[in-house]
Amino acid sequence: TASSVCDLTVVGGTGDLALRKLLPALYQSERRGNLAPGTRVIGGSRHDLDDAGYRAMVREAVHTHVPAHELDETVIERLLDRVRHVVVDADSPEGWDELHGVLKQAESDDVVRVFYLAVAPRLFGPICQRLDDIGVVEPTSRVVLEKPLGTDLASARRINDAVGQVFDEPQIFRIDHYLGKESVQNLLVTRFANTFLEPLWNSRWIDHVQITAAETLGVGERSGYYDTSGALRDMVQNHLLQLLCLVAMEPPTYVGRETVRDEKLKVLQALKPMSPEDVDRDTVRGSYAAGVVDGAEVPAYADELGRPSQTETFVALRAEVQNWRWAGVPFYLRTGKRMDRRTSEIVVVFKAPPHAMFPGSEGATEPNRLHIRVQPDEGMHLHMTVKEPGPGGIRLRPATLDLSYATAFDAVSPEAYERLLLDVLKGNPTLFMRRDEVEAAWAWVEPVLQRWSSLDERPDEYPAGSSGPAAAEALLERDGRTWQETD
Ligand code: BG6
Repeated sequence: TASSVCDLTVVGGTGDLALRKLLPALYQSERRGNLAPGTRVIGGSRHDLDDAGYRAMVREAVHTHVPAHELDETVIERLLDRVRHVVVDADSPEGWDELHGVLKQAESDDVVRVFYLAVAPRLFGPICQRLDDIGVVEPTSRVVLEKPLGTDLASARRINDAVGQVFDEPQIFRIDHYLGKESVQNLLVTRFANTFLEPLWNSRWIDHVQITAAETLGVGERSGYYDTSGALRDMVQNHLLQLLCLVAMEPPTYVGRETVRDEKLKVLQALKPMSPEDVDRDTVRGSYAAGVVDGAEVPAYADELGRPSQTETFVALRAEVQNWRWAGVPFYLRTGKRMDRRTSEIVVVFKAPPHAMFPGSEGATEPNRLHIRVQPDEGMHLHMTVKEPGPGGIRLRPATLDLSYATAFDAVSPEAYERLLLDVLKGNPTLFMRRDEVEAAWAWVEPVLQRWSSLDERPDEYPAGSSGPAAAEALLERDGRTWQETD
C-alpha cells in the first residue's frame, strides 16, 4: 500500500531525534519516491523560526546525517518544499492556533494528520490535550510516541491514559525502533517461512537462548536522562524483550494488524515473575569504570555524571518463558554501554546429540548454534560439526554455514526509522507496541527495579572496553554455560 497524503507534524522538530533520525529518514523516503505528493512536514518547536529558518536547519541535518553518496540536492529541495515550521510550546496555549491554521491549509479534506511527539514523555499528555483543545484531532489522525513510555508500570499507565483521552488505541503508534531493523523483521521470516527450524524450535531441541545488545558508546551528553533510567529501563524493558518475543512467539495465522502483537503479548505474559530471591540470583548490574574503547581512553560513568550513582549501565539476566514450548529453557539477556564492541546478536544454542557414536568424539563436538546477527554485519551463522577432510579415519571439526546479508543481497538495509515512519504514514501498526505489550513488559521488569532500589547498592564495576562484570560470566557458568561471543 502506498503512503497516504499526510500532514506530519513533528512536535520537537528541532530536537536531537528529529534532526538525527526523523528528517534523514524522511529524506530517504523522498529519495525513493515513497512520500505521497501533497504530504507536508510541519516542525513544531519553541524556537522562534520561520519556514525558511527551519528549512535551513533541515537541510543541514540531512547533510550531516545522510551518507554523502546518497545526497542529492534536487531531492533535498523536494523535501524542503514540504516543510513548514510553527512555534508551539507544550507549556503554553500560545502558538497552537497557528498550527491549526497551517493544518487547515491542507490539500484536501482527506489528508491524514499525523502527530509525532519527539519530546520528553511527561509532555505526551499535555500535548495531546492541546491538540484536542484546538480541534485538530480527527478520527483518521495518528499519534506517534517515542520511548521511554514511563519509568514503571504506574507511570506508563498514566501516560497511556492521558494519550488515550484524546486518541483511540488504533490511532496510537508507540515506537520501538528495534522492530524497524531489517534483521529483526527477518527473524519472523526465518522462523515461519522455512520448515526446517520450527520443528526444532522448542525445549526438546533448544538448550538455551542468548540475546546480547552491546554498545561501545558511553552515556555522554545523555547522562541527565540516562541516570534516571539505566540499562534495564532503557534497553531491556523494550528492545531486548521485543527480541525475546520474536524468538519465542507462536506462529500467528497471518501477519495482521493485531496478530503478531497478540502472540508477542502472550510471551510477555508467560515470563516467569521474579521474586526478590530470583532477582538476587538471576540478575547482574554493572557500571562502567574508566577504560579503553576502540583505542581511546574513556572516563568512568560516575565521572561523566560528576557524582557517584547507583544507575546501571549494564544488565545481564536469566529469564524463563513458562509455557509448553519453552518450559525449562533459559533466556539469557545482556546489554551494556562501553563494551568491547558494538554488536547485537541472538544466539540459539541447541542440545548436544543424544548419543556420541563416533569413536573418541565424546566431548569433542560443540552443540549446534544459530547466531542471528542483528547489527552490524547482519546475517546468520549456523555452527555445526563436520568431518575433517582426509583419509585418516573420522575426525570431527566445527564449521560454519554463513549467510551475510551484505554479500547475499546487493542492498544496504534502510534505517529502522525510515521503515517505521513509512508504516505510520501508511497506517500499518504491526511493528508498533500496543498498550498491553508495553504494560506487560513493565509489569515483568518492575520487581527487578524494586528489588534493586531496596538494596541500595552500587552496581558492579567493569572496565570500559570489556565484556561486562565478572558476575555476568558467573551467571551462565553456574548453569554450565558460557556467553557465545560474536563470530
Ligand atoms: C535507544 C537507547 O533506545 O537505543 C539508547 O535509548 C541506545 O541508549 C539505542 O544507545 C541503541 O540503538 P541502536 O539502534 O544503536 O542499537
